Amino acid sequence: MKELRKFDKVVNLAKTKGFIFPSSEIYGGLNSIYDYGPLGTELKNNLKKSWFDFMLARRDVVGLDSAILMHPEIWKASGHLDGFSDPLVDCKKCKGRFRADNLLEKKGIKPTFGKDKSPDMGDMKCPECGGELTEVRQFNLMFKTFMGPLEESANQIYMRPETAQGIYVNFLNVMGSMRMKMPFGIAQIGKAFRNEITPGNFTFRMREFEQMEMQYFVHPDKTKEVFDKWQELRMEWYKDLGINPENLKFREHESDELAHYAKRALDIEYNFGFSKNETFKELEGIHHRGDWDLSQHQKYSKQKLSVKDEEGKEYIPNIIETSGGVDRATLAFLMDAYTEIEGGRTTTTESNKAAEVVLKLDKRLAPIKIAVLPLSKKPDLADTSNKVYDMLVGKYRIAYDETGSIGKRYRRQDEIGTPYCVTIDFDSLEDKQVTVRDRDTMEQERIAIDEVENYFEKKFK
Ligand code: GAP
Repeated sequence: MKELRKFDKVVNLAKTKGFIFPSSEIYGGLNSIYDYGPLGTELKNNLKKSWFDFMLARRDVVGLDSAILMHPEIWKASGHLDGFSDPLVDCKKCKGRFRADNLLEKKGIKPTFGKDKSPDMGDMKCPECGGELTEVRQFNLMFKTFMGPLEESANQIYMRPETAQGIYVNFLNVMGSMRMKMPFGIAQIGKAFRNEITPGNFTFRMREFEQMEMQYFVHPDKTKEVFDKWQELRMEWYKDLGINPENLKFREHESDELAHYAKRALDIEYNFGFSKNETFKELEGIHHRGDWDLSQHQKYSKQKLSVKDEEGKEYIPNIIETSGGVDRATLAFLMDAYTEIEGGRTTTTESNKAAEVVLKLDKRLAPIKIAVLPLSKKPDLADTSNKVYDMLVGKYRIAYDETGSIGKRYRRQDEIGTPYCVTIDFDSLEDKQVTVRDRDTMEQERIAIDEVENYFEKKFK
């Protein structure tokens, strides 16, 4: 039997343990749209909070939550109506449809792009049936909808393909209301939508996804130092939250790959290991967008978007952007935390000898922080167990599990990444102590019940 890849195991765990479900599953699913289950919601919320806290820990960055639907002129100004497209090929024989550059990458060929952003396909054939492929065509990725009751082109609007534009069009509002001085940044997390040609690899490429973007407005002379600073800061964020540095790297974009707005782009890549030729893939982009966005919005909105330097000279701020995917980051953290221990970590019972899964998520990301586990379902333990549960429940996400052997319950918590388990046994009734077990070291400590709150305050500091 073919050995499952780590990626497949993570996808399976995500589904069976309540992290990520295919959307609309009872209707057969909706291609590349996913729902987050109870644990996935917690994990994603922890990740987003960590990002926002990280961004706003700087005096010069403030937050925003702009709408998904915006004035349609914005997409003309931003260049998305004309330039936000992917190269598409069809198979003349089996009618399969593919993203041209992905076909090349899957074969280990680095795409080279022409002036129209179409890659040179050489003598590439259909990967499904070997049939001849059509010429490359450009396909706009924006989802369209209509505002108001009439479905006519005058009422056509778009689902935003990036959150960034909501920040640019609020540049003046934020600067004025918050009395921000140049340079400064605006951070926002929100949904984005792209009608991807070939989505796939689970939540890596979806049609509805979430972005966490920060746009830093700066004088054109200062862009290099700002770019360098954010490049380092963003890499540190992933490492600090537990991703193995060996699985992360930077990749500079070649000039023929740059998006229409970018002067320079550098990706932070994670080793997703989707296939032999698809190991490191983009997690986040750091982009030098120059004055493209504000100049374009100034032109189209006819509102002045320039600021004055110290000598009173007017300039359009340049933008350094950090643009990460919440779903991609969630997937990367899940993959990096997924650890399988052949033969199990303990040998006290037969079941422990099976391969054991431990999700070594950083404590700050773990969906459940503490599991309260009465050793037995007997009513004698219920009072003390409920007391411990009530002590902790408002402060942390807590699980309460009293079914199955204690070994199995520990493993259930290990698989979903719970850092600590608190076991209440019959001795607890006498000595007023409980056992705290650490997920990673499996060390067990006896702690006085009265000390439990203090103990966890220190652990989660
Ligand atoms: N504002 C710039 C921008 O949107 P991008 O490189 O197109 O840049 C930024 O996207 C990030 O958004 C990517 O690094 C990725 O993490 C995430 N992303 C983009 N398309 C995605 C998709 N179809 N599914 C999931 N995440 C996506």
